[in-house]
Amino acid sequence: MKGIVLAGGSGTRLHPITLAVSKQLLPVGDKPMIYYPLSVLMLAGVRDILVISTPTDLPQFQRLLGDGSHLGLRLGYREQPEPNGIPEAFLIGASHIGEEPVALVLGDNIFHGPAFYSVLADSRAALDGCVLFGHRVSDPRPYAVAEVDGDGALLSLEEKPARPRSNHAVTGLYLYDNTVVDIAKNLRPSARGELEITDVNRVYMSRGSARLVHLGRGFAWLDAGTPESLLQAGHYVCTLQERQGVRIACLEEIALRMGFITADACHRLGSRIAHSAYGRYVMTIAEEIAA
Ligand code: G1P
Repeated sequence: MKGIVLAGGSGTRLHPITLAVSKQLLPVGDKPMIYYPLSVLMLAGVRDILVISTPTDLPQFQRLLGDGSHLGLRLGYREQPEPNGIPEAFLIGASHIGEEPVALVLGDNIFHGPAFYSVLADSRAALDGCVLFGHRVSDPRPYAVAEVDGDGALLSLEEKPARPRSNHAVTGLYLYDNTVVDIAKNLRPSARGELEITDVNRVYMSRGSARLVHLGRGFAWLDAGTPESLLQAGHYVCTLQERQGVRIACLEEIALRMGFITADACHRLGSRIAHSAYGRYVMTIAEEIAA
């Protein structure tokens, strides 16, 4: 399975913060926002990942993450010149995807929950069409909203409904079989002038092959698209990390625990940024696992 992180857009709801820096590079707690969606793909066991962003911002992501080899990943980079919608990722990334299934995650989506890697592994194993991930929110109107039957099969899907039929928002993490590329090629822009991921998911729904995995109450799903939600996400991360002494979305730790890199390699990564608490944490984890 290939992976894509879509980190484009102009972050207009965060202006002026995002006039000169990409939203997905802003800090959430102690790390750049893109670490969180990237960690989700890594936890899903996906190692060949394309980062898509604007022509101006893409070099900064490259500077941050390089070719990914230090994390046992293969990272590639492609430009999305205009914000033409989420499914454009499958057109831009067609050669990266090749003949494989693909996991797409939006660069501003933050997930945290128990044994997420096993939820992801089960979902990958059961992939037959598409798998979406739902989470309850108090106000689902800014999101796609889904209704499912008892087995998780998708019954209805509406993008940003004025009168939502449920509180189950569709999160920005999607698993697709390889037909997603052809589906994306045949899409037409919506009224807001963009290709819509909900239209892709509707094609799978009409084929009877769209499933939604509900991430229950033990999970947190945050986006960080406004000043308030950015601050809330940072507080969430800092609060849990300080209380529990573990870090959320620490890429070096995940690479080590997933078996992508050795404890020695992990320790070296930490030692390069040992002036920060993050770097020292990476070194401690490497020492603990090596012992
Ligand atoms: C996008 C999708 C929407 C989904 C949301 C999750 O919304 O269009 O279906 O629920 O991401 O973050 P947008 O960020 O384009 O408003």
